[in-house]
Amino acid sequence: MFYSIVSVFCAKIVKTYMHRILILGSGGREHALAWKICQSDLCQKLYTAPGNGGTSSVSQNVDLDISNFRQIAEFCEWKNVEFIIVGPEQPLVDGIVDYFLENHPKIKVFGPDKQAAQLEGSKDFANQFMAKYNIPTAGSKSFELDQLNEGLEHIRNSKGPYVLKADGLAAGKGVLIIEDQEEALIAFKEMLGGKFGKASSKVVIEEFLDGIEFSVFVLTNGKEYVLLPEAKDYKRIGEGDQGLNTGGMGAVSPVPFVDENMMKKVKDRIIQPTINGFKAENMNYTGFVFIGLIKVGEDPYVIEYNCRMGDPETEVVIPRIESDLMELIQAAFEYNLSEKEIKTTSQSACTVMMVSGGYPEKYEKGKSIEIPEKCNGSLIFHAGTKSTKNGLFTNGGRVLAITSFNDNFQDAVIQSMNLADKINFENKFFRRDIGFDL
Ligand code: AMP
Ligand code: GLY
Repeated sequence: MFYSIVSVFCAKIVKTYMHRILILGSGGREHALAWKICQSDLCQKLYTAPGNGGTSSVSQNVDLDISNFRQIAEFCEWKNVEFIIVGPEQPLVDGIVDYFLENHPKIKVFGPDKQAAQLEGSKDFANQFMAKYNIPTAGSKSFELDQLNEGLEHIRNSKGPYVLKADGLAAGKGVLIIEDQEEALIAFKEMLGGKFGKASSKVVIEEFLDGIEFSVFVLTNGKEYVLLPEAKDYKRIGEGDQGLNTGGMGAVSPVPFVDENMMKKVKDRIIQPTINGFKAENMNYTGFVFIGLIKVGEDPYVIEYNCRMGDPETEVVIPRIESDLMELIQAAFEYNLSEKEIKTTSQSACTVMMVSGGYPEKYEKGKSIEIPEKCNGSLIFHAGTKSTKNGLFTNGGRVLAITSFNDNFQDAVIQSMNLADKINFENKFFRRDIGFDL
């Protein structure tokens, strides 16, 4: 009798606190987020829009256009969705948070508002923010078309390598690093002339920083934060970091050279001043901050801010978190994040991205994917896949992210590669050297 009263009571409490949640996006990052959120005691029902062949196994895919905020809102009202977690940057930069605050304030959207998302949406805005709050980064100057001659003069008066950045979002392609001054002058003119469309109507010229890169991730409400595990990703298509830039070919977490001392510098010099800046500017920032860093000598410098999680970094960062992610997200909205402690596994995680032959240039879609039944503890996060009644098919350049765990990252890499060898689709490709430089 006592037991049944208690259990009814508990069931009620649990029910009151369970949520209907929608994740926006369709990559490996969103599959990893959905995989984690669906395990939360706070999750009653999980949707992913538009999702992929993997998200449909841990949530319900919904065919929504993530740039159509009204359509998303209608769906959320219909299904009583209370939380939206935004995967990619574009809807944030376009103001999805502002739209919901104005029109549907009861639905909580996890991400920064349009102004705060400028930290990713405008390199110039990010540089000015860092200058104002004394956050270490490369020295920089920005130029618009009417300052073309000043910009050319600036290049002539400086030494290479020259770092030229389109100010706005350019699908990860807007940064050029050029050794030769003549080439840099031409590229600068081309950029201001519209090489990256509106994104390069302003060009930022930065001092070149020479070092090794890594990234840190925080979950914040603009006043408090919790630090998530750090990671290092591998952006080039070819082994030894050769060839074209991609969205990311693999990642590891933790990063061996990021010791306690380095992390203390990152917290004291970069993360806390960033949060102080959010507070001082009264920024509406409840979401993830992804800070791309470079270690120069023994000091960390910011290369970029992103207003969302990274892909494929999410596929190693999120699986290493043992705490309930939804509890942290809820705590961010309730301003009790500082009471939360995040638990992470000490094991290393590595993810190897399997891509379609030809990526990041032209590639074919619609290839049948065969996955062995036994995955020996590895996780397979889907990126560009589509599940149909006839089976699973490739549907993008980056197809599957294979995440494995081990006591050291080298063994985790081997485990992921062994599984990638057993997964088949026509023209599959993956790098065998993730973590090679560590
Ligand atoms: P971003 O889009 O700002 O992350 O830049 C893309 C890549 O360009 C980074 O991951 C770095 O490898 C490189 N990069 C960006 N800014 C600099 C810089 N100031 N010095 C050296 N490398 C840079
Ligand atoms: N992996 C880099 C990014 O998500 O921007």
